[in-house]
Amino acid sequence: MAVKLLCLSLLLALLCTGWTKQQTCLLSASNCDECIQSGPECAWCTAPRSDVRCHTSKGLRRAGCHKSYVYNPQGAVQVVKNDSSTEPAVAKTLLLQPQELSLRLRPGVSQSFPLTITMPTDQPVQELTMDISNVPAGVNITFSSITTGNPLLIQVNVVAAQCPGKSDDSNQNRTGPWSSLITPRGFSLSVMLEITLECQCDCIRNREENSPTCSGHGALLCGQCACYESYIGQNCQRDTDSFSSPHEDYCRSGPNAPVCSGRGQCVEGFCECEMRANPEERYSGRFCECSNFDCPYQNNRVCGGHGKCMCGQCICDDDWTGEDCSCSYETASCMATNQQLCNGKGMCQCGVCKCEPPYAGPTCENCPTCENTCVKHAKCVECRAFGMGEKRDRCDQECSYLSVTMVDTKDDLPQTGGTTALCLMISPEDSCIFYYTLSRTSSRQQSTVARARKCNSRGLK
Ligand SMILES: *[C@@H]1O[C@H](CO)[C@@H](O)[C@H](O)[C@H]1NC(C)=O
Ligand SMILES: *[C@@H]1O[C@H](CO)[C@@H](O)[C@H](O)[C@H]1NC(C)=O
Ligand SMILES: *[C@@H]1O[C@H](CO)[C@@H](O)[C@H](O)[C@H]1NC(C)=O
Repeated sequence: MAVKLLCLSLLLALLCTGWTKQQTCLLSASNCDECIQSGPECAWCTAPRSDVRCHTSKGLRRAGCHKSYVYNPQGAVQVVKNDSSTEPAVAKTLLLQPQELSLRLRPGVSQSFPLTITMPTDQPVQELTMDISNVPAGVNITFSSITTGNPLLIQVNVVAAQCPGKSDDSNQNRTGPWSSLITPRGFSLSVMLEITLECQCDCIRNREENSPTCSGHGALLCGQCACYESYIGQNCQRDTDSFSSPHEDYCRSGPNAPVCSGRGQCVEGFCECEMRANPEERYSGRFCECSNFDCPYQNNRVCGGHGKCMCGQCICDDDWTGEDCSCSYETASCMATNQQLCNGKGMCQCGVCKCEPPYAGPTCENCPTCENTCVKHAKCVECRAFGMGEKRDRCDQECSYLSVTMVDTKDDLPQTGGTTALCLMISPEDSCIFYYTLSRTSSRQQSTVARARKCNSRGLK
């Protein structure tokens, strides 16, 4: 039980951190490498035509990128050498298993493997210290023991902090492989780790030359076209040699469209979009036709602060939806006191109950016009307003919940509709009829009663 509880709280903690984590993927990444380097959760869509390229796996799926096109490397551990002892029962030397591994590390995603250390039988089992050498900068190797004794089983965790920045190119060997050694202190035997950082997209190697997607004039890699010389365009559809028109025409989205949508400069047939005063805001697209701020605003924030703006469209964070990401999937605010969503009389949309008529109120609990409401309060209205009727003697005890206002005639009663209902009562005592309204404000039931009663009993019968 205790273990189960622990797991539950761990799970909650994980969910909660996931909930608050800011989206960090470089949505404007121009290529796969740039994208996967922008964060451990960032994935690239390799589909030939996709408006959204760089997002979380979930975000890409939501933007219509099929699962089979979502590229999100997580690194891997490969055991290269794992010989077991050939010696019989009495081992004279230290034995390490495995002896050699190859690790691909996606920065931010940790890898682990078990390491078995068998001590020579003639040596006392003591505390072991592990020395690690030749570890590349930013890579952290930690150990945790699984079992003690001999053999000793330890878990080795390896994680890289981040991909080397562009400025680190003094060292051209930036992503490895590096050969690192783990050596139990006092021994000469080591485990060799060949570490490679996964900062480059594998899909670059699957280069499809003369791809039909690139109009046969370019190579398709990671879903994008790399056009051959003299061809331009997202699908290499334009041949710059066959155009005698000035380069500026390649910077127009249509024959009469403004150059670079009026948001940039045309440089040799390519738009260079202008910068915005706010560094968070930028234009993008072949013709600078896209931006990351021309999206619906909600509460003064683009996409309600719950999504990213991509070329005029909000890509909502998890748990939010709607054109402006203002709609939460959360339903707690729709829960009525009877633990039913919207009291079972409506739909919870964007955290707000849409009640079926005539139900109303935040959780559809009010129904002033429901027939039984008039009947339910009639006797109390009668005694509070006229001191008459069945409840006359118990009025103070039973009807104090009702606050009554008197007006002269039916015409002076408040407008009905919404949360206010018009009711009519025939007093059994004298067959007179009177009109009143019922309405509910916060928790108080209110009634306005027309003082004028109609007592033409013959007419009524
Ligand atoms: C190495 O081989 C042993 C069996 O000889 C196996 O139990 C162990 O899991 C292997 N280690 C790894 C890291 O694959
Ligand atoms: C390595 O990881 C451990 C445990 O997460 C942490 O305490 C330590 O600061 C890290 N070291 C480096 C150099 O990042
Ligand atoms: C990187 O450097 C290591 C030695 O530090 C070498 O073994 C390896 O081959 C180099 N990799 C590349 C791609 O040059």
